[in-house]
Amino acid sequence: MSLLSTTSLVKQFGGLTAVDEVSFEVDRGETRAVIGPNGAGKSTLINCITGMLEPTRGTVEFDGEDITGVEPHDAVQRGLSKSFQTASIFPEMSVEENVEIAALAAEHGSFQLNFLRKRESFDEVHRISERMLDAVELLDQRDHEAASLPYGDKRRLEIAIALASEPEMLFMDEPTAGMSPGETHATVELIEELQDDLELTILIVEHDMEVIFRIADRILVLNRGRVIADATPEEVQGDPEVQEAYLGGVEL
Ligand SMILES: Nc1ncnc2c1ncn2[C@@H]1O[C@H](COP(=O)(O)OP(=O)(O)O)[C@@H](O)[C@H]1O
Ligand SMILES: [Mg+2]
Repeated sequence: MSLLSTTSLVKQFGGLTAVDEVSFEVDRGETRAVIGPNGAGKSTLINCITGMLEPTRGTVEFDGEDITGVEPHDAVQRGLSKSFQTASIFPEMSVEENVEIAALAAEHGSFQLNFLRKRESFDEVHRISERMLDAVELLDQRDHEAASLPYGDKRRLEIAIALASEPEMLFMDEPTAGMSPGETHATVELIEELQDDLELTILIVEHDMEVIFRIADRILVLNRGRVIADATPEEVQGDPEVQEAYLGGVEL
């Protein structure tokens, strides 16, 4: 059974239909890529699933429950987490504090309900932070001020912050944008480790086709808000409609 599914999801901004009747499924443990030209509706689709935007119509189901239109915090509690670009880092705090704050925020509900478990929860927060910093290979830099990290490390810290809620499913919107080839390569290796070590289900929007073909199990191709392909990387590669819409006929 699929972990995530959308059914006829629609998001309109005034007269513009940014996401147009999108239905697709993501299986547990799968890495699903979403591709398409600029303005195709990729970010809007992610935002409608993770609670940043309220869909105009249609439904989102996660782990057998209808989560259409839930608040972002509720989506996190249910096991969905989105990695933001550097905006969510507190620059003057340490690398580790940044991840601990995110882990605390994810636990917030249980803190209030069960005051006596507080100490235990802090230990737990610390344990989770170390594990996630280890996963993104930032454990050695844990005491560094976040602002002092090089760009690629900041992006990895973003991923650790997103992992701090111990999500079942991680959403990444163009994680390699602005990265050097070396940083992109390191990010691909990191994603492969997340696939293997944490057995995460991943939805990634990415424009770098080399990255996509290396990590994706299936690809959803959007064009003007509509699904034009939902297939394996090999099938997408040979699909003339995809090549026409997305690549302007350029061979992949
Ligand atoms: N908050 C918004 N208000 C109005 N229009 C928006 C908003 N967000 C996105 N759009 C429009 O929706 C369409 C899809 O945008 P987006 O999801 O960002 O595309 P992508 O991520 O594929 O580049 C675009 O035409 C964009 O201009
Ligand atoms: Mg986008």
